[in-house]
Amino acid sequence: MRFTVRDIGAMKQAGERIVMLTAYDHPSAALAEAAGVRFLLVGDSLGMVVLGRDSTLPVTIGDMVHHAEAVVRGAPNALVVGDLPFLTYACPEDAVAAARALMQQAGVQAVKLEGGAALAPIVRHLTTLGVPVMGHLGFTPQAMHQVGVRVQAKEAAEARRLLDDALALQDAGAFAVVLELVPAPLAEAVSARLRIPTIGIGAGAGCDGQVQVWHDLLGLSLQKPPRHARVYAPVGEMIRDAIAAYAADVRDGSFPTAANSARMDQAELDRALG
Ligand code: KIV
Ligand code: NA
Repeated sequence: MRFTVRDIGAMKQAGERIVMLTAYDHPSAALAEAAGVRFLLVGDSLGMVVLGRDSTLPVTIGDMVHHAEAVVRGAPNALVVGDLPFLTYACPEDAVAAARALMQQAGVQAVKLEGGAALAPIVRHLTTLGVPVMGHLGFTPQAMHQVGVRVQAKEAAEARRLLDDALALQDAGAFAVVLELVPAPLAEAVSARLRIPTIGIGAGAGCDGQVQVWHDLLGLSLQKPPRHARVYAPVGEMIRDAIAAYAADVRDGSFPTAANSARMDQAELDRALG
C-alpha cells in the first residue's frame, strides 16, 4: 500500500518526524524504499544532479515525467511527489496540464510548486480538482535570479511574509510545505503555527520533517555538498574506486575469469572451425 498525504498529516499530529528524500530513477527509489523511506520527491534538482545543468530552470515537464515514472515503479509503497517545473504553473490551465502529465503519465501522487500567497489561487485550483499540492517557501530555486542562493527571511518583514505565505498555502489546501534555507527559529515558529507539516532543508531541526537531495546524502555531487547536508557514505568515491578497479583488471587481463565466461566442448569447437 502506498503512503498517502493523509499519512503524512497524521505523522505531524502524532509528533513523528517525517523523512523525505529525493529520487530520480528506479534504483534510487527502490533503495530508498528498502531503507524504509516512503516519502519521495522527484525534485527538479534533477536538472543539476542528474542532467548536469546549472540550475533547475531548464528542466522540462518531459524530463520530469521521464524520471518520475521510473521512481513510481521503483518505490511501489511510497508517496511520490513530483516538482512542477519552472513556468509550467503560471496560470491554472498550465498548472493543470503539468499536473496531468505528472499524475496521469508518470503516476505520481502529488505535485510541488514554489511560491506563497500569490500562488494560492493555483494551489486552490489544483487541490479542488483532486491534485495534492506541496508548497515550497524560503529559498525557491526557480526564482534564483530574483532572490539569490542564500538564506531567506532573516529580517522581520520577510519572516512575517513567509509565515503569511505558509498560512495562505495551508488555506489553499496544500498538504505540506517545504521550507528551504530559512533560519531555524523561524522555521520552528512557522511549523508550530501550521496544521500541515513543514519539511525542512537547511531550515533546522524544528521542522516536522526533513528532505535531502540523494546526491548530497551519498557524496555523489561533483560540487561540495551544501552546509545543511551530511554525507552518510562516500558512495561517489566508492563508485569511482570500483570503476578504477574494473578498468585495471581489464587492462591486466584479470577480468573476466573462467568463472565469468561460458565453456564450450572442445570437440564442438573443432567441428565448427573444421
Ligand atoms: O528539487 C528539489 O530537490 C527540491 C528539494 C530541495 C526540496 O525541491
Ligand atoms: Na525543486
